[in-house]
Amino acid sequence: MPARATRLVIDVDTGIDDAFALLYACASPRARLVGVSTVVGNVDLASATRNTSAVLALARRAEVPVWPGCAAPMLRAQNDARLFHGPSGLGYAELPEPAAKPAPMHAIDAILAAASVEPGALTLVATGPLTNIAAALLREPALPRLLGRLVLMGGAYREGGNVTPAAEFNIWHDPEAARIVFRAFAADGAAPLVAVGLDVTRQAQLRPADLDHLERRCSGLPHGPALLRFLHDSSRHYFDTMEKHTGARVFTLHDPLAVAAAIDPSLIVTQRATVEVETTGTLTSGMTVADWRGVWGRPPNVDVAIEVEAPRFLADFLDAMERLARG
Ligand code: BDR
Ligand code: CA
Repeated sequence: MPARATRLVIDVDTGIDDAFALLYACASPRARLVGVSTVVGNVDLASATRNTSAVLALARRAEVPVWPGCAAPMLRAQNDARLFHGPSGLGYAELPEPAAKPAPMHAIDAILAAASVEPGALTLVATGPLTNIAAALLREPALPRLLGRLVLMGGAYREGGNVTPAAEFNIWHDPEAARIVFRAFAADGAAPLVAVGLDVTRQAQLRPADLDHLERRCSGLPHGPALLRFLHDSSRHYFDTMEKHTGARVFTLHDPLAVAAAIDPSLIVTQRATVEVETTGTLTSGMTVADWRGVWGRPPNVDVAIEVEAPRFLADFLDAMERLARG
Protein backbone atom coordinates (compact mmCIF):
# COMPACT_ATOMS: atom_id res chain seq x y z
CA MET A 1 0.00 0.00 0.00
CA PRO A 2 1.52 3.41 -0.90
CA ALA A 3 2.52 5.51 2.12
CA ARG A 4 0.16 8.36 2.99
CA ALA A 5 1.32 11.68 1.50
CA THR A 6 3.05 13.94 4.04
CA ARG A 7 0.88 16.91 5.03
CA LEU A 8 3.16 19.92 4.65
CA VAL A 9 3.20 23.58 5.56
CA ILE A 10 6.36 25.34 4.42
CA ASP A 11 7.51 28.60 5.99
CA VAL A 12 9.64 30.45 3.42
CA ASP A 13 11.56 33.68 2.74
CA THR A 14 11.51 33.18 -1.05
CA GLY A 15 14.62 33.43 -2.22
CA ILE A 16 15.91 31.36 -5.18
CA ASP A 17 16.44 28.11 -3.29
CA ASP A 18 13.13 28.56 -1.44
CA ALA A 19 11.52 28.86 -4.90
CA PHE A 20 13.17 25.61 -6.00
CA ALA A 21 11.98 24.00 -2.74
CA LEU A 22 8.39 25.08 -3.43
CA LEU A 23 8.53 23.72 -6.98
CA TYR A 24 9.90 20.45 -5.61
CA ALA A 25 7.12 20.19 -2.98
CA CYS A 26 4.48 20.90 -5.65
CA ALA A 27 5.87 18.13 -7.83
CA SER A 28 6.20 15.47 -5.15
CA PRO A 29 3.47 12.81 -5.19
CA ARG A 30 4.46 12.04 -1.60
CA ALA A 31 3.60 15.54 -0.31
CA ARG A 32 0.30 17.33 0.22
CA LEU A 33 1.13 21.03 0.41
CA VAL A 34 -1.64 22.57 2.49
CA GLY A 35 -0.24 26.10 2.68
CA VAL A 36 2.84 28.29 2.60
CA SER A 37 3.67 30.98 5.15
CA THR A 38 6.13 33.77 4.45
CA VAL A 39 8.68 35.56 6.59
CA VAL A 40 11.27 38.30 6.22
CA GLY A 41 14.75 36.97 5.47
CA ASN A 42 16.37 36.75 2.06
CA VAL A 43 14.13 39.70 1.06
CA ASP A 44 11.48 41.85 2.77
CA LEU A 45 8.14 40.24 3.62
CA ALA A 46 6.18 41.75 0.69
CA SER A 47 8.77 40.48 -1.82
CA ALA A 48 8.88 37.03 -0.18
CA THR A 49 5.08 36.83 -0.35
CA ARG A 50 4.89 38.01 -3.95
CA ASN A 51 7.67 35.63 -5.01
CA THR A 52 5.95 32.73 -3.27
CA SER A 53 2.63 33.34 -5.03
CA ALA A 54 4.40 33.77 -8.38
CA VAL A 55 6.28 30.48 -7.96
CA LEU A 56 3.11 28.61 -6.95
CA ALA A 57 1.42 30.00 -10.08
CA LEU A 58 4.37 28.77 -12.17
CA ALA A 59 3.79 25.31 -10.65
CA ARG A 60 0.06 25.69 -11.48
CA ARG A 61 -0.74 25.52 -7.77
CA ALA A 62 -2.15 29.03 -7.31
CA GLU A 63 -4.90 27.56 -5.10
CA VAL A 64 -2.40 26.84 -2.29
CA PRO A 65 -2.92 29.57 0.36
CA VAL A 66 -0.03 31.94 1.03
CA TRP A 67 -0.06 33.38 4.56
CA PRO A 68 2.13 36.46 5.17
CA GLY A 69 3.87 36.47 8.54
CA CYS A 70 6.44 38.56 10.40
CA ALA A 71 8.00 41.54 8.63
CA ALA A 72 10.96 41.98 11.00
CA PRO A 73 13.13 39.83 13.25
CA MET A 74 12.14 39.74 16.95
CA LEU A 75 14.84 42.09 18.22
CA ARG A 76 17.42 42.67 15.51
CA ALA A 77 17.62 45.07 12.63
CA GLN A 78 16.34 43.63 9.38
CA ASN A 79 18.92 42.22 6.97
CA ASP A 80 18.73 40.38 3.67
CA ALA A 81 20.61 38.03 1.34
CA ARG A 82 20.03 39.96 -1.90
CA LEU A 83 23.70 39.54 -2.76
CA PHE A 84 22.90 35.91 -3.60
CA HIS A 85 19.21 36.17 -4.47
CA GLY A 86 19.17 39.45 -6.42
CA PRO A 87 17.10 42.60 -5.83
CA SER A 88 13.74 40.83 -6.29
CA GLY A 89 14.86 37.62 -4.55
CA LEU A 90 14.49 35.53 -7.71
CA GLY A 91 17.78 36.35 -9.43
CA TYR A 92 17.34 37.44 -13.05
CA ALA A 93 13.97 35.68 -13.39
CA GLU A 94 10.87 37.72 -14.20
CA LEU A 95 7.66 35.93 -13.32
CA PRO A 96 4.22 37.40 -14.11
CA GLU A 97 2.60 39.36 -11.30
CA PRO A 98 0.57 36.69 -9.45
CA ALA A 99 -3.21 36.90 -9.84
CA ALA A 100 -3.84 35.22 -6.47
CA LYS A 101 -3.93 37.52 -3.45
CA PRO A 102 -2.29 36.44 -0.18
CA ALA A 103 -4.72 34.72 2.17
CA PRO A 104 -6.26 37.00 4.83
CA MET A 105 -4.90 34.91 7.75
CA HIS A 106 -1.61 35.79 9.47
CA ALA A 107 1.06 33.09 9.25
CA ILE A 108 1.03 32.56 13.04
CA ASP A 109 -2.72 31.81 13.09
CA ALA A 110 -2.47 29.69 9.96
CA ILE A 111 0.38 27.54 11.28
CA LEU A 112 -1.45 26.97 14.57
CA ALA A 113 -4.70 26.15 12.78
CA ALA A 114 -3.01 23.71 10.39
CA ALA A 115 -1.24 21.96 13.28
CA SER A 116 -4.44 21.68 15.33
CA VAL A 117 -6.67 20.13 12.63
CA GLU A 118 -5.18 16.69 13.19
CA PRO A 119 -2.59 16.71 15.99
CA GLY A 120 0.57 14.84 15.03
CA ALA A 121 -0.17 14.83 11.29
CA LEU A 122 1.48 18.05 10.11
CA THR A 123 5.10 18.34 9.05
CA LEU A 124 6.16 21.96 9.31
CA VAL A 125 9.20 22.83 7.19
CA ALA A 126 11.05 26.10 7.78
CA THR A 127 13.35 27.32 5.02
CA GLY A 128 13.75 30.87 6.31
CA PRO A 129 14.49 32.59 9.62
CA LEU A 130 12.45 31.17 12.50
CA THR A 131 10.57 34.37 13.39
CA ASN A 132 7.07 33.09 12.49
CA ILE A 133 7.57 29.77 14.27
CA ALA A 134 8.90 31.44 17.43
CA ALA A 135 5.95 33.83 17.44
CA ALA A 136 3.57 30.88 17.00
CA LEU A 137 5.27 29.15 19.96
CA LEU A 138 4.87 32.20 22.15
CA ARG A 139 1.17 32.22 21.28
CA GLU A 140 0.72 28.46 21.70
CA PRO A 141 3.45 26.72 23.74
CA ALA A 142 1.81 23.34 22.97
CA LEU A 143 2.77 23.64 19.28
CA PRO A 144 5.67 21.12 19.58
CA ARG A 145 3.13 18.51 20.77
CA LEU A 146 0.66 19.33 17.98
CA LEU A 147 3.15 18.86 15.13
CA GLY A 148 4.26 15.60 13.59
CA ARG A 149 7.72 17.09 12.97
CA LEU A 150 9.50 20.36 12.45
CA VAL A 151 12.17 20.14 9.76
CA LEU A 152 14.26 23.26 9.37
CA MET A 153 16.98 24.41 7.04
CA GLY A 154 19.31 26.18 9.39
CA GLY A 155 22.49 26.09 11.38
CA ALA A 156 25.97 24.69 10.99
CA TYR A 157 26.79 21.99 13.52
CA ARG A 158 30.26 20.69 12.69
CA GLU A 159 30.87 23.13 9.85
CA GLY A 160 31.56 26.84 9.78
CA GLY A 161 28.83 29.28 8.85
CA ASN A 162 28.06 31.05 5.59
CA VAL A 163 27.09 34.57 6.63
CA THR A 164 29.76 34.77 9.36
CA PRO A 165 32.51 32.25 10.15
CA ALA A 166 30.23 30.87 12.88
CA ALA A 167 26.64 31.35 11.74
CA GLU A 168 24.30 30.20 9.00
CA PHE A 169 21.98 32.84 7.51
CA ASN A 170 18.55 31.64 8.71
CA ILE A 171 19.65 31.38 12.34
CA TRP A 172 21.82 34.52 12.21
CA HIS A 173 18.96 36.66 10.84
CA ASP A 174 16.87 36.09 13.98
CA PRO A 175 18.87 34.26 16.65
CA GLU A 176 16.39 35.10 19.43
CA ALA A 177 13.63 33.41 17.45
CA ALA A 178 15.85 30.41 16.76
CA ARG A 179 16.67 30.09 20.46
CA ILE A 180 12.95 30.07 21.35
CA VAL A 181 12.31 27.34 18.77
CA PHE A 182 15.25 25.11 19.68
CA ARG A 183 14.43 25.34 23.40
CA ALA A 184 10.73 24.62 22.87
CA PHE A 185 11.51 21.27 21.26
CA ALA A 186 13.34 20.12 24.40
CA ALA A 187 9.96 19.81 26.18
CA ASP A 188 8.47 16.42 27.09
CA GLY A 189 6.19 15.12 24.35
CA ALA A 190 7.60 17.49 21.73
CA ALA A 191 7.66 16.30 18.13
CA PRO A 192 11.10 15.73 16.59
CA LEU A 193 12.98 18.83 15.45
CA VAL A 194 15.15 17.86 12.48
CA ALA A 195 17.88 20.36 11.59
CA VAL A 196 19.12 20.25 8.01
CA GLY A 197 22.14 22.54 8.21
CA LEU A 198 25.16 23.46 6.14
CA ASP A 199 26.85 20.17 7.15
CA VAL A 200 24.62 18.42 4.63
CA THR A 201 23.20 21.14 2.37
CA ARG A 202 26.70 22.08 1.17
CA GLN A 203 26.80 18.65 -0.48
CA ALA A 204 23.59 19.30 -2.44
CA GLN A 205 25.04 21.15 -5.39
CA LEU A 206 23.40 21.93 -8.69
CA ARG A 207 25.62 22.87 -11.65
CA PRO A 208 24.77 24.59 -14.95
CA ALA A 209 25.29 21.26 -16.76
CA ASP A 210 22.51 19.69 -14.65
CA LEU A 211 20.07 22.30 -15.92
CA ASP A 212 21.26 21.88 -19.50
CA HIS A 213 20.64 18.15 -19.19
CA LEU A 214 17.22 18.80 -17.65
CA GLU A 215 16.37 21.12 -20.53
CA ARG A 216 17.06 18.30 -23.01
CA ARG A 217 14.88 15.92 -20.95
CA CYS A 218 12.04 18.45 -20.93
CA SER A 219 12.15 19.43 -24.58
CA GLY A 220 8.69 19.03 -26.08
CA LEU A 221 6.96 18.88 -22.68
CA PRO A 222 4.07 21.34 -22.38
CA HIS A 223 5.29 23.32 -19.35
CA GLY A 224 9.01 22.85 -20.05
CA PRO A 225 9.83 26.24 -21.61
CA ALA A 226 8.41 28.42 -18.79
CA LEU A 227 9.82 26.20 -16.08
CA LEU A 228 13.30 25.94 -17.60
CA ARG A 229 13.41 29.68 -18.27
CA PHE A 230 12.73 30.28 -14.58
CA LEU A 231 15.25 27.70 -13.37
CA HIS A 232 17.97 29.08 -15.67
CA ASP A 233 17.29 32.79 -15.05
CA SER A 234 17.00 32.54 -11.29
CA SER A 235 19.96 30.23 -10.71
CA ARG A 236 22.25 32.18 -13.09
CA HIS A 237 22.33 34.99 -10.50
CA TYR A 238 23.38 32.53 -7.79
CA PHE A 239 25.98 30.92 -10.09
CA ASP A 240 27.42 34.38 -10.86
CA THR A 241 27.72 35.31 -7.18
CA MET A 242 29.22 31.96 -6.23
CA GLU A 243 31.73 32.21 -9.07
CA LYS A 244 32.79 35.66 -7.85
CA HIS A 245 33.27 34.40 -4.30
CA THR A 246 34.51 30.83 -4.75
CA GLY A 247 35.51 30.50 -8.41
CA ALA A 248 32.93 27.72 -8.97
CA ARG A 249 29.57 27.97 -10.73
CA VAL A 250 27.52 25.99 -8.21
CA PHE A 251 24.11 26.51 -6.64
CA THR A 252 23.63 24.98 -3.20
CA LEU A 253 20.14 23.52 -2.89
CA HIS A 254 19.80 24.27 0.84
CA ASP A 255 16.03 24.61 1.02
CA PRO A 256 15.05 21.88 -1.48
CA LEU A 257 17.10 19.41 0.57
CA ALA A 258 15.17 20.33 3.74
CA VAL A 259 11.86 19.74 1.95
CA ALA A 260 13.16 16.49 0.47
CA ALA A 261 14.28 15.25 3.90
CA ALA A 262 10.85 16.11 5.29
CA ILE A 263 9.18 14.01 2.60
CA ASP A 264 11.76 11.20 2.55
CA PRO A 265 13.72 11.02 5.83
CA SER A 266 15.83 8.16 4.44
CA LEU A 267 17.82 10.75 2.43
CA ILE A 268 19.66 11.86 5.54
CA VAL A 269 21.32 10.35 8.59
CA THR A 270 20.74 12.25 11.83
CA GLN A 271 22.40 12.29 15.22
CA ARG A 272 20.64 13.54 18.33
CA ALA A 273 22.28 16.39 20.20
CA THR A 274 21.52 19.17 22.63
CA VAL A 275 21.70 22.37 20.63
CA GLU A 276 21.66 25.98 21.85
CA VAL A 277 21.70 29.14 19.78
CA GLU A 278 24.26 31.82 20.62
CA THR A 279 22.63 35.24 20.89
CA THR A 280 25.20 37.33 22.72
CA GLY A 281 28.59 36.46 21.22
CA THR A 282 30.22 39.36 19.42
CA LEU A 283 31.85 37.00 16.91
CA THR A 284 29.44 34.09 17.16
CA SER A 285 25.92 35.54 17.21
CA GLY A 286 23.58 33.06 15.51
CA MET A 287 25.92 30.09 15.95
CA THR A 288 24.24 26.74 16.62
CA VAL A 289 26.28 25.14 19.40
CA ALA A 290 25.85 21.36 19.56
CA ASP A 291 26.86 19.54 22.74
CA TRP A 292 27.98 16.33 21.02
CA ARG A 293 29.62 14.93 24.14
CA GLY A 294 26.79 15.63 26.56
CA VAL A 295 28.89 17.88 28.81
CA TRP A 296 25.84 20.03 29.65
CA GLY A 297 24.06 16.94 30.96
CA ARG A 298 20.79 17.95 29.30
CA PRO A 299 18.60 15.75 27.12
CA PRO A 300 18.98 16.18 23.36
CA ASN A 301 16.48 18.43 21.59
CA VAL A 302 17.51 18.17 17.94
CA ASP A 303 18.03 15.48 15.30
CA VAL A 304 20.96 17.00 13.45
CA ALA A 305 21.49 15.87 9.85
CA ILE A 306 25.08 14.69 9.58
CA GLU A 307 25.04 12.73 6.30
CA VAL A 308 23.07 12.97 3.07
CA GLU A 309 22.69 10.83 -0.03
CA ALA A 310 23.32 13.85 -2.22
CA PRO A 311 23.33 12.08 -5.64
CA ARG A 312 19.97 10.41 -4.86
CA PHE A 313 18.53 13.74 -3.73
CA LEU A 314 19.73 15.56 -6.86
CA ALA A 315 18.35 12.85 -9.15
CA ASP A 316 15.01 13.01 -7.33
CA PHE A 317 14.96 16.81 -7.56
CA LEU A 318 15.57 16.72 -11.33
CA ASP A 319 12.92 14.01 -11.79
CA ALA A 320 10.47 16.25 -9.91
CA MET A 321 11.24 19.16 -12.25
CA GLU A 322 10.60 16.91 -15.25
CA ARG A 323 7.21 15.94 -13.76
CA LEU A 324 6.32 19.61 -13.37
CA ALA A 325 7.29 20.27 -16.98
CA ARG A 326 5.09 17.37 -18.07
CA GLY A 327 2.09 18.70 -16.11
C1 BDR B 1 19.69 29.70 3.78
O1 BDR B 1 19.81 31.11 3.68
C2 BDR B 1 19.06 31.59 2.61
O2 BDR B 1 19.75 32.56 1.89
C3 BDR B 1 18.67 30.40 1.78
O3 BDR B 1 17.39 30.61 1.18
C4 BDR B 1 18.66 29.26 2.76
O4 BDR B 1 17.40 29.14 3.38
C5 BDR B 1 21.06 29.09 3.58
O5 BDR B 1 21.94 29.55 4.57
CA1 CA C 1 15.44 30.30 2.52
